[in-house]
Amino acid sequence: MTAAAQLKPVVAAPTRTVSIVASGAYVPPGIRTNADLEKMVDTSDEWIYSRTGIRERHIAEDHEATSDMAAEAARRALADAHLGPDQIDLILVATCTPDMTFPSTACFVQQQLGATHAACLDLSAACAGFLYALDVGRQYVASGQLNTVLVIGAEKMSTVMDWTDRTTCVLFGDGAGAAILQATDASHGVWPAVLGADGSLNKLLAIPGGGSREPFSQQVLDDKRHCLKMAGREVFKHAVTNMAAAAQEALQRSGACIEDVACIIPHQANARIIQAIGQRIGAPIEQFYLNVDRYGNTSAASVIMALDEAARNGRIQRGDLVLLVVFGGGFTWAATLLEW
Ligand code: UT7
Repeated sequence: MTAAAQLKPVVAAPTRTVSIVASGAYVPPGIRTNADLEKMVDTSDEWIYSRTGIRERHIAEDHEATSDMAAEAARRALADAHLGPDQIDLILVATCTPDMTFPSTACFVQQQLGATHAACLDLSAACAGFLYALDVGRQYVASGQLNTVLVIGAEKMSTVMDWTDRTTCVLFGDGAGAAILQATDASHGVWPAVLGADGSLNKLLAIPGGGSREPFSQQVLDDKRHCLKMAGREVFKHAVTNMAAAAQEALQRSGACIEDVACIIPHQANARIIQAIGQRIGAPIEQFYLNVDRYGNTSAASVIMALDEAARNGRIQRGDLVLLVVFGGGFTWAATLLEW
């Protein structure tokens, strides 16, 4: 008999229902208002608010990195769940502004929390990253391979802004949100996500410099190619089309209709994008949760920050059906239904 034949067979574990049992969020205290930006670039509060719905955004201090914000959001989620850091099996961080190329931001979060039993992994899907990470974490718990997964979306977008480019610097902000996934006896929990991507459109929203394609050089710095570049109008159109389609597919797969959804929590990039999605899927703006006015676009952090806020202020209640939908560079997009 071979050595392999003596090993235990791999037995498929039963699928378990997975729920977000707790959440937390953190934004740095510093606020940059539209009036502040008027002093930095040729813009106006009127233009920014009417085109995007943004009034202000939070900006981290120089000493505060993505993992610092992520760890604080995670501490709040752990406190909410009455769990200790040693109970976390996996830390998954969705970010496009990691502390360093490596180690992963998740490793820095592990160190700060003292989550010594946790495996650590970063996931890159730009502004859609949190729902991609949620789906990865959900599968580990559903399969029974892991019991407690900490999923974080965290960004320090202020470090990748060209603060002289009015077409991008008015849009983004810093922050973090965290969710804890466990198996529960809820009837549905978190549904499998609808995930999509179109890599052929990678140039429309990107940080082109500083990676292996265009390594750091004086030229990259002079041309500010280490900063976020976006073809705003094009991104707008694709964001509406793909988020609306993903939301509809998530509903169709679950058998729910839009009227069953207590609250739609979309990626917070632009209030006009959210309005346009509502028109396509037949949802009035009141059905959406919006906080883009106070935080701007926090990329991978936005949807979990909004979900956490909606839960804390009572906009969603335990048992409510919630629809999450996101879109980001890549392009990448995702939609997930969950029973809160
Ligand atoms: O998180 C990932 C997903 N990201 C997004 O979903 C963002 C998608 N895009 C958008 O939200 C919008 O396209 C923007 C908010 C970025 C821009 O709004 P827009 O209505 O598409 O404006 P535009 O880019 O067509 O620009 C209109 C005008 C231009 O001037 P001209 O060429 O018409 O003279 C811009 O130069 O507005 C000008 N402009 C500004 N004016 C004052 C652009 N940015 C500014 C600004 N202040 N900050």
